[in-house]
Amino acid sequence: MNALFMQIVHHIKELKAILLQQKENGVSIGFVPTMGALHEGHLSLVRKCKQSNDITVVSIYVNPAQFNNKNDLKSYPRDSERDCKLLSSEKCNIVFIPDDKEMYPVPDTREFNFGLMEQVMEGVHRTGHFNGVAKIVSKLFEAVEPDKAYFGQKDFQQLAIIRKLVKMNHYDIEIVACPIVREKNGLAMSSRNTLLTKEQRNAAPLIFKVIKEASNNLTSHHSVKSVKEYVRNTINSNKLLKLEYYEIVERNTLKPVSEISLKIPLTACIAVYAGNIRLIDNIDIN
Ligand code: PAF
Repeated sequence: MNALFMQIVHHIKELKAILLQQKENGVSIGFVPTMGALHEGHLSLVRKCKQSNDITVVSIYVNPAQFNNKNDLKSYPRDSERDCKLLSSEKCNIVFIPDDKEMYPVPDTREFNFGLMEQVMEGVHRTGHFNGVAKIVSKLFEAVEPDKAYFGQKDFQQLAIIRKLVKMNHYDIEIVACPIVREKNGLAMSSRNTLLTKEQRNAAPLIFKVIKEASNNLTSHHSVKSVKEYVRNTINSNKLLKLEYYEIVERNTLKPVSEISLKIPLTACIAVYAGNIRLIDNIDIN
């Protein structure tokens, strides 16, 4: 493969043919699935992928199946020309940009069951979201068959679901979790940040400030109930923000806890609305 040129591919058949030829030469394939509107967070995944794989494949596809809100799907930022320029400067090898017909030639009626993992947080507030994620990620994994796939820790629950999907389907793929990339003011990078007004953008860093403060002050003496109340009141005291949930869960099982134990790894997760824009973040507690 010519390392100087990035190939843009729209069809699974073509993608498979290119990758098969490479695999026959024994090269390793790294994969970064995205929905485009790339930012530094995505680019950090691409850089990490390039460090440990011979070929880096990035997909750009806004997957309708994972949106439970039509307006969110409609307003999701799209700019594949800009994305391709960014990927080309990162020396990405292949960009896969399919359309809906390519990814869903027939309706995908599969129902995944992730048990408790989808019965909390995003799973409760975005009905069907993880089923849609599992549909597209399984299709993409089967199209690319990578050795390693890279996901951001900002989507903490998605990462846990994808690890489970890999186990359930016996995919021979290593899932690599990459740290959240933040703006200087602490706001977690997200494609949705571009949709925020200037005022909302100024208010949004409060989200990370509050979860960081809450996690720094947590000891086994605190009740989770009082921490939740503190987070809710602080977020909602800013009239541009509205808390959807703040939950402290066991890091591996995603089981919500009602008491802080310093023995079990915990993660605090939050979802906040700034107008119609939904922002999520999380922080490890112990
Ligand atoms: O995290 C995302 O951008 C999406 O959920 C993913 C993994 C690309 C599937 O559409």
